[in-house]
Amino acid sequence: MKVLEVTALKKSFYAGEEGRYIHAVDNVSFFLEPGEFLGLVGESGCGKSTLARIVTGLLHPDHGNVVLAGDELRQTPFPKAVYKQMQMVFQNPQDSFDPRRTIGCSIIDIQRNFGVKRAEAQQKMYGLLDRVGLKSTLADRLPLEISGGECQRAAIARAISVSPQIIICDEITSALDVSVQAQILELLEDLRDEMQLSLLFISHD
Ligand SMILES: Nc1ncnc2c1ncn2[C@@H]1O[C@H](COP(=O)(O)OP(=O)(O)O)[C@@H](O)[C@H]1O
Ligand SMILES: [Mg+2]
Repeated sequence: MKVLEVTALKKSFYAGEEGRYIHAVDNVSFFLEPGEFLGLVGESGCGKSTLARIVTGLLHPDHGNVVLAGDELRQTPFPKAVYKQMQMVFQNPQDSFDPRRTIGCSIIDIQRNFGVKRAEAQQKMYGLLDRVGLKSTLADRLPLEISGGECQRAAIARAISVSPQIIICDEITSALDVSVQAQILELLEDLRDEMQLSLLFISHD
């Protein structure tokens, strides 16, 4: 079974000042099975984030298609329900949170978006912080008041809070210290085993 399949994706950008097209994504196909980690590695500027943005519906491809659990997603942005199945974690965790909302509120907000009642979302939020190795007191802090590694753990907690099948990770350890990078990878492996998560893991190294 394939939880996600992309076929023949292409995306070019017109670089006006250079008077030419940049073929950022050129005929990329892959699929993800339940519980599978797929690594995508390439040097800076080779088109990884462009691919991630197409796969997550933030950017429309020039060609090709994205099929999630058997349904082709033709419109971008994707319908909201898609993000119950597919979540993203980004390179700079601090930028991926609303700077004025506490970490706890952000993890509650996303669940509320998918219809979870406040009390239940709050209780789950504390469980998730614990699951990703964060103290419950961190719920009351703002993104810029915690470290990059803590913030990335919080971003993972937020992503798994809606019980997705897939997480797209775009250079999620690139901004972190090497020791913290390893811990984040271990956490993701544990979560994959527990939740049968499929991951597209993008990295430049
Ligand atoms: N919105 C855009 N407009 C023009 N060029 C872009 C745009 N987004 C990305 N590019 C170009 O496409 C190429 C691939 O970028 P990107 O997907 O961000 O690479 P990576 O994530 O692998 O570093 C780069 O040359 C980049 O400058
Ligand atoms: Mg990138």
